[in-house]
Amino acid sequence: MSKIETQVLPETDTGLSTAVDVLAQGGLVSFATETVYGLGADATNDKAVARIFEAKGRPQFNPLIAHVADIGMAKEFVEWSDEADKLAEAFWPGPLSLVLPLKENSGISPLVTAGLSSLAVRLPAHPLARQMLAKLSKPVAAPSANISGKISPTSVVHVLAGLDGKIEALLDGGNCNVGLESTIIGLIDAPALFRPGGVPVEAIESVLGVRLAVDTSPETLIAPGQMTSHYAPGASVRLNATKWHAGELRLGFGPIECDLNLSETGDMVEAAANLFHHLHALDSRDGKSIAVSPIPQSGLGAAINDRLERAAAPRS
Ligand code: TXA
Ligand code: MG
Repeated sequence: MSKIETQVLPETDTGLSTAVDVLAQGGLVSFATETVYGLGADATNDKAVARIFEAKGRPQFNPLIAHVADIGMAKEFVEWSDEADKLAEAFWPGPLSLVLPLKENSGISPLVTAGLSSLAVRLPAHPLARQMLAKLSKPVAAPSANISGKISPTSVVHVLAGLDGKIEALLDGGNCNVGLESTIIGLIDAPALFRPGGVPVEAIESVLGVRLAVDTSPETLIAPGQMTSHYAPGASVRLNATKWHAGELRLGFGPIECDLNLSETGDMVEAAANLFHHLHALDSRDGKSIAVSPIPQSGLGAAINDRLERAAAPRS
């Protein structure tokens, strides 16, 4: 990854417009929310989202939260529900993320959901974040703005310590006042606690009038690829294929002949951006088996291989 100049943008109209322009052009912008600083990209732009994982050095494609400007924007992308309405009414804008079924043809990059059929949405309370989202008028995918495995950042200094030279811009919104990530509630089946956070569980239970099922298993949160709902192709998957067998659908990498190529030039960001799209596309063809070229383990390759290994694992 080549070093880029990270602009620190002030909390002014010009700072805000620049941040929005950078996002609109597929760049990465770290921005303050009331919980922690987020590392944002246009959630509908595959390459921009792929770069989030590259900048964070994430070895896996964990699903990301899509930050929205208002409830209307959330409803464009997920199947809204009465429970969602109650919780949004009570706690939005604020430190609460809701996981809801993703709408078909939503336009959200599959890297945001890690190929799941659900999407986490959040309406942050920080005024600068809300202005940025409203001006962009698109959802922004954002994990916490730290290098993978490090502590979440609550100030500009924290963000720069990890990400200076790896992102285009950092919108300075001061220190985060909640300082703890959002509470994540799953509204797919019965309401479930996916992660404790800024909104206390009791407050949520009292609004919904039910006890929450608790699902904070590391497998669910850290390795969504192991969730029962995860996307595994219908076809079987063969990895590290250096020769193609008859009848296989060929997912290539690098300058080779194949059915679909993750990146002819061997560009990891491009490969990550194409990964879920190409798996879905090949799976919709009439083939029983997908063979995948070897992918180097460096940089985003670790996350790409992690995902491919899950797709290739024996099905239960
Ligand atoms: O306060 C916050 O939530 C901050 C700020 C920036 O908004 N963001 C944040 O993102 O903490 P991150 O990526 O560090 O944590 C997001 C969590 C992950 O544990 C991920 O597994 C879970 O959300 N998640 C996202 N989408 C999900 C989905 N569709 N199903 C289950 N879990 C999901
Ligand atoms: Mg985090």
